[in-house]
Amino acid sequence: MSRKILVTNALPYANGDIHLGHLVGYIQGDIWVRYQRMRGNTVHYVCADDTHGTPIMLRAEKEGITPETLIGRVHGEHLRDFTDFGVGFDNYHSTHSEENRAYAEEVYKRLTAAKLIETRSIEQFYDPVKEMFLPDRFIKGECPKCGAADQYGDNCEVCGAAYAPTELKNPYSAVSGAKPVLRTSEHYFFRLSDPRAVAFLREWTRGTNAAGTRRLQAEAANKMKEWLGEAGQEGENTLSDWDISRDAPYFGFEIPGAPGKYFYVWLDAPIGYLASFRNLADKRGDIVVEDFVEAARAEAAGTEMVHFIGKDILYFHALFWPAMLQFAGLRTPSQLCVNGFLTVDGAKMSKSRGTFITARSYVTQGLNPEWLRYYFATKSNGTMEDVDLNLDDMIAKVNSDLVGKYVNIASRCAGFITKRFGGKLGTADAAATAAFKSAFEAGTIAQAYEERDYGRALREIMHLADLANQYVNDQKPWELAKQEGREADLHVVCSTALTLFRDLTLYLKPVLPTLAAKVEAFLAIGTLGWQGEWQALPAGHAVNVYAHLMTRVERKQIDALLEANRESLAPAAAAPAAKTASSQQRHAKKQQHEAQAAETASPHISIDDFTKVDLRIARIVGAEHVDGADKLIRLQLDIGEDKPRQVFAGIKSAYDPAALVGRLTVMVANLAPRKMKFGMSEGMVLAASDADGKTGGLYILSPDAGAVAGMRVK
Ligand code: 2FM
Ligand code: ZN
Repeated sequence: MSRKILVTNALPYANGDIHLGHLVGYIQGDIWVRYQRMRGNTVHYVCADDTHGTPIMLRAEKEGITPETLIGRVHGEHLRDFTDFGVGFDNYHSTHSEENRAYAEEVYKRLTAAKLIETRSIEQFYDPVKEMFLPDRFIKGECPKCGAADQYGDNCEVCGAAYAPTELKNPYSAVSGAKPVLRTSEHYFFRLSDPRAVAFLREWTRGTNAAGTRRLQAEAANKMKEWLGEAGQEGENTLSDWDISRDAPYFGFEIPGAPGKYFYVWLDAPIGYLASFRNLADKRGDIVVEDFVEAARAEAAGTEMVHFIGKDILYFHALFWPAMLQFAGLRTPSQLCVNGFLTVDGAKMSKSRGTFITARSYVTQGLNPEWLRYYFATKSNGTMEDVDLNLDDMIAKVNSDLVGKYVNIASRCAGFITKRFGGKLGTADAAATAAFKSAFEAGTIAQAYEERDYGRALREIMHLADLANQYVNDQKPWELAKQEGREADLHVVCSTALTLFRDLTLYLKPVLPTLAAKVEAFLAIGTLGWQGEWQALPAGHAVNVYAHLMTRVERKQIDALLEANRESLAPAAAAPAAKTASSQQRHAKKQQHEAQAAETASPHISIDDFTKVDLRIARIVGAEHVDGADKLIRLQLDIGEDKPRQVFAGIKSAYDPAALVGRLTVMVANLAPRKMKFGMSEGMVLAASDADGKTGGLYILSPDAGAVAGMRVK
């Protein structure tokens, strides 16, 4: 019977770029979805941007735009990244949507009716200058354990200690620099300490779904056991109630009947899965949402809901989310598919090493996204283990498996079919295809895909590719082609090889959809599905002319990618590669991702630091292109000195030199002179640009009328 599955991937925050660490889980999810569809199952695959919360609010403010503008821009960027990596969501929505508001309010209403919401006054740090309560990641100070300066409010990056923000010495607000004060405020709590919730979660986290599959991988279930304990045993844990409200100012949904109180971002984030699905259903018209969402209806309809997430958000998805759903009368997840963190060459991703690689840079550097899909798939085994992107290993695997083994089969045989047999296949050799036929019937590759053990699937597939190559090597079509009277043999060998190539393509299709589509076009076989009886390509079938399918990866392409991602500045605080159970639990309670906060908070400088920079009004008295430089304009800048300063500015893409002459602008006058290929540069002009410095144009500054060359800017 065909399955009906709603599949989701974790919703990325709407204030950061998608990087290769994110892509591990998205690629794993997409492969599973494609596999399920090839089996004839119905899958709705949705995602959205996670748009609410303090970091996004502050980030927009810092950029001088509204949160709506910020999340609108990022939505487009994220969707483009996913599309380029073949992650084919049916819908990519937003948590800042009416569908999400409606669901969040409904869930809250039902939890209130179930007597699982209560209010309580809590004391929290408040920034008296910015007039807002501060999330822990926006409070900094000295570590209470080791005394290290400038540590976040929840843990110390120097000694690893975890603590409450009130324990920090000399705390300050990372938003305004002000000394925070403690203030009380009324908060709303989801009563997870209620015995009903604990009993439900103990059962739920250990159980299986209707199909008999564990809801949680073994490691995840063990983690939950540590957190939940056993009923009636020593060490039995009760859960703490979960704080689901935040005070204004906050970017999110106001809680009905509670002016100035907002749903905490993590309440409406997973509800965003349902909102995206609802939005899809409204656009499509043929999906009955309730059959997937309401508990009783979902059970009767036998639908499934499967979430792909990273292990850092297991706590939210295995505790808060199922409890919210259960007590709101909604269906609980059928399965959580949890992936580990990404390391690159065995280490945490690093901006200074260039291994914090964005999805966008990978694409713009011209690397093939299917190389990465393949490599990630070979390293995925359905567990929560971290995945290491070993760059040399990736080059070796792609070149040897995909180009050397798989593509090679077609490239060695296809030409003969075109040139010698008018593009028509002959009869395949039954003995040579027997191993492939029995592999198809045994279904072991299918089983590995089902279990998300893509590494195992690909090892089996490559074993078959070895057999196919062995066949071609033994039969030597290039020699048959030269021998008189061997036409018929040549025809059989090449037709057999293309049948085997068709099978390999079927098996690789969930991982390499773009490549598979090219092969389907070349073999003229329509869309490959994974059902029915195994059959060889029929004699007389006409194929198209073979065109090269995939190029090799070169080390220099990888080096260029690392260079493009290398940042010489001190790296921003990034998520640690591994966390202990207790720190993870703490982290979950401490809410927002470190990376998200790091996007927003800038380190403070003193006024003395600022006045060290000698900013001057400068008149542009000369401007010209520089021979041999793509980006530079040579400027002559008058700041009231004896002779103008020569400065090279990277603004060629945005300005015509002639239009600059005569203008006033602002320059840094005390930057150490720098010898460049084209001469000395004796300062720097300031220009505004987008965060990435590439997409939104470049704008040099102009003072108001009245300013004259040489004036100090401070
Ligand atoms: O950790 C994160 O990146 C969150 N934005 C994930 C949310 S997943 C779901 F709950 F929405
Ligand atoms: Zn410390």
